[in-house]
Amino acid sequence: MPLVSIQASLHRAQAEGYAIPLFDVFEFHSIVGTIAALEKKRAPGIVALPSRWVEGPHAAAHVAAVRLLAEEAPVPIALMLDHGSSFEACMRALSLGFTDIMYDGSRLPVEENIATTKAVVRAAHALGVPVEAEVGHVGLGADYESLDSARDSLTDPATAQRFVEETGVDYLAVAIGSAHGLYKGEPQLDLELLAAIRQRVDIPLVMHGGTGLSEQQFRDAIATGIVKVNIGTDLMLTASRRMGEVAQSPKPSFFAYTAAISKAYQERCAYYLDVFGASGKA
Ligand code: 13P
Repeated sequence: MPLVSIQASLHRAQAEGYAIPLFDVFEFHSIVGTIAALEKKRAPGIVALPSRWVEGPHAAAHVAAVRLLAEEAPVPIALMLDHGSSFEACMRALSLGFTDIMYDGSRLPVEENIATTKAVVRAAHALGVPVEAEVGHVGLGADYESLDSARDSLTDPATAQRFVEETGVDYLAVAIGSAHGLYKGEPQLDLELLAAIRQRVDIPLVMHGGTGLSEQQFRDAIATGIVKVNIGTDLMLTASRRMGEVAQSPKPSFFAYTAAISKAYQERCAYYLDVFGASGKA
């Protein structure tokens, strides 16, 4: 199918109580593995490129690879900019044909975050493209000692409501205790906070930093209102580990390395589709 925004699929997931994963990809074999998992599981899904890739020299080629592979798959696949670093990066992604955009101004003072998010929303909506933004800040797992150590940057429910009303954003990334990358301490989610945000905000809520959370934590977060979960580090680590195994094998070949990347992505993406309840929902 042609690339399509994930918005309709997210609204359906919200109504039916499951979540759709966003998978970060960085090169051809990770794209192949991710799309193979979506096909195999007959699931809707989001393939995402990070901002640096969109601002880099091979952006159009990466987009073309996702577009052509998605066209061959019989399931709805979105191409999303992950953590758009500026208004300009978001405009570049729009010009390249991304179906969904995330602008991340979560490190900025909230008024600045609102102002730039508003500008991105205005431009993207003129082209019919939905926008995700983040309020509160999802930090790094490497700095994560405990939920309490992350508390200062968690999302405030009243601010979330104002942010959504003022910006017109379509999906909201919230900081409820998850973090990007591997966690130094034990990850813990503040489900009461998530429930309070859900009461005030009815657009799809997004949880970043999926790597390292347990199946029960995913299920609890989804039951409390999360409908999109971002996954990156686990896919990269699994692929790296598998390439390490190839290196240790009696006859490591170039093709064994590239196949290991696709296979790792396919296996781990399929796992998350099952855990989130997205399998069979295409
Ligand atoms: P992890 O790398 O922790 O899975 O987080 C991915 C993410 O949130 C990308 O936006």
